[in-house]
Amino acid sequence: MKQQLEAIKAAADEALRAADSNQLIESVRVRFLGKKGELTAILKQMGSLSPEERPLIGQLANQIRADIEREIAERTAEISAAESSRKLAAEKLDVTMPGTKHPLGKKHPLEIVLDEVKEIFLGMGFEVATGPEVEYDYYNFEALNIPKNHPARDTQDTFYITPNILLRTQTSPVQVRVMEKQKPPIRIISPGRVYRSDAVDATHSPVFHQIEGLVVDKGVTMGDLKGTLAEFAKRLYGEDAVVRFRPHHFPFTEPSAEMDTMCFACGGKGCRLCKGEGWIEILGCGMVHPKVLSNCGIDPEEYSGFAFGLGLERIVMRRFGIDDLRLFYENDQRFLNQF
Ligand code: FA5
Ligand code: MG
Repeated sequence: MKQQLEAIKAAADEALRAADSNQLIESVRVRFLGKKGELTAILKQMGSLSPEERPLIGQLANQIRADIEREIAERTAEISAAESSRKLAAEKLDVTMPGTKHPLGKKHPLEIVLDEVKEIFLGMGFEVATGPEVEYDYYNFEALNIPKNHPARDTQDTFYITPNILLRTQTSPVQVRVMEKQKPPIRIISPGRVYRSDAVDATHSPVFHQIEGLVVDKGVTMGDLKGTLAEFAKRLYGEDAVVRFRPHHFPFTEPSAEMDTMCFACGGKGCRLCKGEGWIEILGCGMVHPKVLSNCGIDPEEYSGFAFGLGLERIVMRRFGIDDLRLFYENDQRFLNQF
């Protein structure tokens, strides 16, 4: 029986050495020390021993049981340590590695310049007004003194929804909406999207943006218009920006003009940017027509005003030297990331 016990010990030692996971160690424990284990089976035969042999074998059996238990504990600790260092190596975290970049969105070039324009006019005491893009014929044309036979009403230029409702072709209807609601003094700008049935090319889009301006008060003159807009051009393009006013016609202003800036690329000599003219048109403007004032319930004998409207895309093109307006709407990251 002593030899049997020693054989069990040797077999247990060998099985433990081979066991390389907690699961295998547990099966070793069950095989030798479990209720139906090999050592337990020997102990059950103790009754057949002589009284002299019994304590000796008992002591040996207990010794072997204790040894196997200790070895199991040691081997378990070894395996756990190996396992956790293997895990540590596999899940190693290098805090000095560069992180994942989450790119931030940025402002669209149209938005950048619009913000600059707003900033300039807010600084002069203007407020921002808004109006609907789906507009009544009355506000877009009729109230602005654009008669029924005016070419601007041609379906070529205007997207009609019903004979009475259309997509606004200009931001000027906001003038009417503001004057109907607000008594002078009025000082507003109104940026927004407008629609024209124009074919797309490098300087035209059927959807584009305008910024309207309107000032109405007692004693407003053409001098106020020129001073305000010349100052605006200086703040947008720099102190040395030179502007000129050219006579023009708009049905809702009288007199009317267009304002040009001296080409900042060539200083007025004429180049590709200004198409050899030396000047670049930036807006339409004029003194608010007395008919428009009275259409809105403002007495033209008591009040006068000026208005202007500029095309945002064209200003931004000049500001950044962009030669094709279509780039604004293509959402090409290579273009947008330059601003
Ligand atoms: C007007 O729309 C007038 N409402 C401006 C105005 C307001 C005059 C207040 C007087 C008083 P015009 O049609 O010229 O004017 O358009 C103004 C600007 O819009 C043009 O100078 C141009 O820069 C821009 N524009 C016109 N059509 C397009 C288009 N299809 N695509 C891009 N920009 C355009
Ligand atoms: Mg024009």
